[in-house]
Amino acid sequence: MDTVVSGIRSTGNLHLGNYFGAVRNFLKMQRENNCFFFIADYHSLTTHPKPDDLHGNIKQVLAEYLACGIDPEIATVFIQSDVPEVTELYLLLNMNAYVGELERTTSFKEKIRKHPDNINAGLLTYPVLMAADIIIHRAHKVPVGKDQEQHLEMTRRFARRFNMIYEVNYFPEPDAYNFGQELIKIPGLDGTGKMGKSEGNGIFLADTPSEIRKKVMRAVTDTGPTEPGQEPSEPVKNLFTIMNVVSDPSTVKYFTDKHASCEIRYGDLKKQLAEDIVKVTEPVRVRINEILGDNKYLAKVVKEGGEKARESASGTIRDVREILGYRSF
Ligand code: TRP
Repeated sequence: MDTVVSGIRSTGNLHLGNYFGAVRNFLKMQRENNCFFFIADYHSLTTHPKPDDLHGNIKQVLAEYLACGIDPEIATVFIQSDVPEVTELYLLLNMNAYVGELERTTSFKEKIRKHPDNINAGLLTYPVLMAADIIIHRAHKVPVGKDQEQHLEMTRRFARRFNMIYEVNYFPEPDAYNFGQELIKIPGLDGTGKMGKSEGNGIFLADTPSEIRKKVMRAVTDTGPTEPGQEPSEPVKNLFTIMNVVSDPSTVKYFTDKHASCEIRYGDLKKQLAEDIVKVTEPVRVRINEILGDNKYLAKVVKEGGEKARESASGTIRDVREILGYRSF
């Protein structure tokens, strides 16, 4: 079995885009691989979360992934900061990561541009920590979105460099887990672009039915088709894209035909869409709240997951120290 590692940032709640894009693939992946799924809470420190918020953020994200069907009996589910071995590997890898290459990373340059007041060293070495997360379990595959491709490329480079410097063949170079056709992009409700955590255009799994109805009814559309067979505008096409994943094919066909014949009423389309979204999200929301209320279960999940992850990580640290030349007295 291949080993898969994926880190989930503990900022922002899961939205429909995450659900249909990434999470549903995780559910399949966990049955076919040796999976490590963790909450990347060390990474979240780069933006200085308030101590009063940190635990709640971690708990919320954990509950949401479990509610979606990530199964701690099958996959190793843990919190990054419960595995201190990763910080040791991070330190060791930092010695062979060059400031120049880290400064050239796209995500780092973005941060400098957007937050010139907080360019901390943790941001600079973010890709090194991510590499440590991955190679500490000697992973073969990492499911990544477009925005993480460069980080994975750097992971491969750090793994390769380690092997070269110490003349070993210890770390495998992890590949991107490719979902092919199955990677669905969910657009936002504001007319353009992808659904995002912070763009204010998203529907969250934790949203109540009334919040969902309100958001969908406010979604951007246009003034309606004027010619039969006319191609829908981008905002309308986006609603159809969402409808395609949540609604019955016959519902999609009904509204597609109505659009083609210029008889469509966007109010009806939105009402239907909202109900179909609620049908998908409501059981998940109920489950999220059940899990959030069951601290004993959550404690058991992270304790067992943390132990399994540490077992895997400490074996790697032992080997790496040996390779580096540490010897016992
Ligand atoms: N950097 C990833 C993100 O922003 C999160 C992450 C941290 C990660 N460590 C990882 C993803 C290891 C995959 C593997 O989404």
